Amino acid sequence: MCGIVGALSQRNVVPILLQGLQRLEYRGYDSAGLVVVDEKQLKRARSTGRVADLTQKSSDIKGQLGIAHTRWATHGVPSERNAHPHLSSDSIAVVHNGIIENYEELRAHLKSVGYVFTSDTDTEVIAHLVHSHYKKGGTLLSATQAALGELVGAYAIGVIAIDNPQQLICARKGSPLLLGVGNQENFIASDMSALLAVTKNVVYLEEGDVAEINLDNYRVFDVKGKPVVRDVHVSELSNDSVELGEYRHYMLKEIFEQPQALANTLESVCNSQSLIPGLFGAEAAATFEQINSVLILACGTSHNSGLVARNWLEEISGIPCAVEIASEYRYRTSVANPNTLIVTISQSGETADTLAALNHAKAIGHPHTLAICNVAESAIIRQSKLRFLTRAGPEIGVASTKAFTTQLAALFLLTLVLAKQRGRLNAQQEKEHLQELRHLPIAVQAVLKLEPEIKKLAEKFVNKQHALFLGRGLHYPIALEGALKLKEISYIHAEAYPAGELKHGPLALVDKEMPVIAVAPNDTLLEKLKSNLQEVRARGGELYVFADANTRIQSSEGVHVMQMPEHAGFLSPILHTIPLQLLAYYVALEKGTDVDKPRNLAKSVTVE
Ligand code: G6P
Repeated sequence: MCGIVGALSQRNVVPILLQGLQRLEYRGYDSAGLVVVDEKQLKRARSTGRVADLTQKSSDIKGQLGIAHTRWATHGVPSERNAHPHLSSDSIAVVHNGIIENYEELRAHLKSVGYVFTSDTDTEVIAHLVHSHYKKGGTLLSATQAALGELVGAYAIGVIAIDNPQQLICARKGSPLLLGVGNQENFIASDMSALLAVTKNVVYLEEGDVAEINLDNYRVFDVKGKPVVRDVHVSELSNDSVELGEYRHYMLKEIFEQPQALANTLESVCNSQSLIPGLFGAEAAATFEQINSVLILACGTSHNSGLVARNWLEEISGIPCAVEIASEYRYRTSVANPNTLIVTISQSGETADTLAALNHAKAIGHPHTLAICNVAESAIIRQSKLRFLTRAGPEIGVASTKAFTTQLAALFLLTLVLAKQRGRLNAQQEKEHLQELRHLPIAVQAVLKLEPEIKKLAEKFVNKQHALFLGRGLHYPIALEGALKLKEISYIHAEAYPAGELKHGPLALVDKEMPVIAVAPNDTLLEKLKSNLQEVRARGGELYVFADANTRIQSSEGVHVMQMPEHAGFLSPILHTIPLQLLAYYVALEKGTDVDKPRNLAKSVTVE
């Protein structure tokens, strides 16, 4: 992960770099730094605080060429000496996102020829390598290309040299990087949100590309060093979409954006009268005819959405479905079924584990791939045959919210399309499901009204060390998601169990100090769930139940019931997610944690 931004202009680029870094903090935020070329010097500032602290530290720095970085530590503790940019011989500066796997041998070699290392990072070898080639003569571009030839691993890099104040070199392999094209100024960044204030014209670099950036032009070279032309796109992101506006935190803003995000995601379907495979790409109809099973690969929250989808796909479409954690799948020897549809789910589309799992699936013989993703130009979208873009808009809070519910909407559509194609959905059922989907944004809006009640409830959790989430069937993954949200941002240890499994172990943990949160939809498993809740109550456990109307679960001593609307059928998991997001948010707020940037985490995990 980590975020990179770089700029070359006729104006002072420091404010551009700092603003860009602020937008990229979601990629990591344990330290930040920048360097500019000014009056034949490299002027650098680094901080283990946030970008706000770096802004103060760089108040005296000005320059027209600079690179900057916000870090999520992989090699070396978060400290100022490990913060990027890294320098070589005070003349080359490098920022890097990714992991250099052969850095130890490179380091040993560079030391043996006299280079002195001042950090514990893998990145510093890149700076010294570029320097070692540059000093032999040649251009900064050729020196960087030569250095890259010695690296094993993943990288997005920005490189500048003290004696070359009008040029910036960058490259990407395995980590995202794009060029921002301005008028007599050009930029680089890990993602477009960093550059919205300066340009909307973007060039997405491809795997192995190296680019030379000058004031009024740029050149791109492919993995073989051949000059190539990459299209210039106009970004559809608006500057407002990445601003906090009236909200205190991005997470709260994004929770409240869910009705709109769902409406946008479902737009094409809700305006039409029927479901067609073409929603997933031109080749979807032919591909869906050939498949006989689905394998979902994802990480974190996206994995939880896959677990919900498994239930839908098997029950409604009658297609066998498995869901695997991407980082496990890629290293497991598995049996390929060429008629399986591989579905990757990812908010960012850049998660290294998911991307590697996708490529592994292809390599072992799965030709049919579908990406469900929130970022149009991401690697996962580009590397999949079929695609569905969730239209949640930029998600900045590290804890994923609107990306999750829009993924669920997309997966429900997939379920319906596959069911229809297999003759398992008659015209009436199709009409009813489309009607439910059209109603979904309004239904979510209604659940958001629980906010004041949940805010009060959150006070009861502040001093708790642990929490147990229970759900059954379609809602067990929602319990998992609720627990994940709570632990991510409030640091309360939270676990989720299918309620029927309680008696096989976790019941031993239940006492009055263990709050038990239950997801209680009015579905076929309700009576079973009620019995499970009795088991908790009988052991003195305090219950917090999110119950649909007509479940006849009443508040009583030790049982706190939050009333949800009518049961929403198959779409109920989407509605039941909302209060759990709000609960995690308000507990974290009460505890005073950094809600949008929880410790040790990052939003987009582009390293293994
Ligand atoms: C990180 C984020 C999670 C996210 C996961 C997968 O761990 O902190 O919120 O669910 O990555 O990300 P993706 O972008 O692939 O959905």
